[in-house]
Amino acid sequence: MSKTNSDSKCRSRKVRRSWFKTRRIKKKIQYLFELIRYKGCLYTGKPYFGPVIAAAQAWKYRKPYMNKIVELEVSKLKGERYEILEIGSWAGDSAILWANAIKKFNNGNGSVTCVDQWKPYIDLGKRDKASPVISRMEKALVKERIFNLFLHNIATSKLNDIIRPYKGSSDEVLITLRDNRFNLAFVDGSHAYSHVIRDLENCRRLLCDGGILCGDDLELQKHEVDVKVAEENKDIEDCIQDPKTGEYFHPGVTLAVGEFFGGEVSCFEGFWVARKTNSGWQRVNLA
Ligand SMILES: C[S@@+](CC[C@H](N)C(=O)[O-])C[C@H]1O[C@@H](n2cnc3c(N)ncnc32)[C@H](O)[C@@H]1O
Repeated sequence: MSKTNSDSKCRSRKVRRSWFKTRRIKKKIQYLFELIRYKGCLYTGKPYFGPVIAAAQAWKYRKPYMNKIVELEVSKLKGERYEILEIGSWAGDSAILWANAIKKFNNGNGSVTCVDQWKPYIDLGKRDKASPVISRMEKALVKERIFNLFLHNIATSKLNDIIRPYKGSSDEVLITLRDNRFNLAFVDGSHAYSHVIRDLENCRRLLCDGGILCGDDLELQKHEVDVKVAEENKDIEDCIQDPKTGEYFHPGVTLAVGEFFGGEVSCFEGFWVARKTNSGWQRVNLA
C-alpha cells in the first residue's frame, strides 16, 4: 500500500472517531438538559412527558385517532356517562388523553379506569439482549419512579378527579370489575401473546353492547407477517423485524389480535379498533 493511501485511511478513521465522540457528547448534553427539565417539572408541579425514564409513550400520530373515537362515540350519548378502561398506563400519557377527551366531548361526565401493575414485567432473562429503552423502562419500574410520575402527571393535569388507578396485574384486577361496565376498553399492557389474548377476552366481558375495543402497537396484521417467525417470538420478544415485509412489529400483539378477531381489524397507524355487537365484532371507520 502506498504511503499516501495509508495516510488518508488513517485520517478518515480519525475523522470518523472524532465525529462519533462529538455526537456522544452532544447526546449527553441534551440528556442533561432534559433531566433538568424533568426535575423542574417535578418541583414546579407541571406534568412531564419526555424521554427521561421513557415517560412519553403514546405515539403522536396515533393520538388524533384516539381522540376521534371518543368524539364520535360520545356524540351518540344522551347525557350519559362515558366509561373508559385502560390496561397499561405507564406515566399517564394515554390516560390523560382519554380523560381530556371526556372533559372536552362529554363535559367531564365519565371516568378512566387505569389498570397497571407498575412493576417490572419484561422477562429480560429470555432475551439475547434488551434494547436500551426496555432496560431503562424496567429500571424505572423497580424504583416505583413510573407510578409516582403517573400520580404526579394526573394530579398536575387536574384530572385526578376522573382518572382512577388500580395497581395490580390485569389478570388480578379485571376479574374484580363488573360485566358490561365500560363503553371503551384500550389494551396497551404487556405485549406478550399470552397476556394480550387474556386481556382481550376479559374486555369482551367488561364492554357494553356497542362498546369499543381498541389497542396500540399493531404495526402489521397477522396475514401480513411471516407467521412462523411471529409464533417463535410471540411470548419472548417485544418488537422484532418481520422477514417478509422488513418492518418492525410486536409479534404478541399481531398474533393475539389476529386470532381473537379471526381476521383483519380496522387499524390506523398501529391504533386498532373494533365494535362489540351482540353477534360478534364490527369494523370501525375513523378515516
Ligand atoms: C407500553 S406501556 C403503556 C403505555 C401507556 N398506555 C401510554 O400511552 O403512556 C405498558 C404498560 O403495561 C403495564 N403492564 C405490563 N404488563 C402488565 C400486566 N400483566 N398487567 C397490568 N399492566 C401491565 C406496564 O407496567 C406498562 O406501564
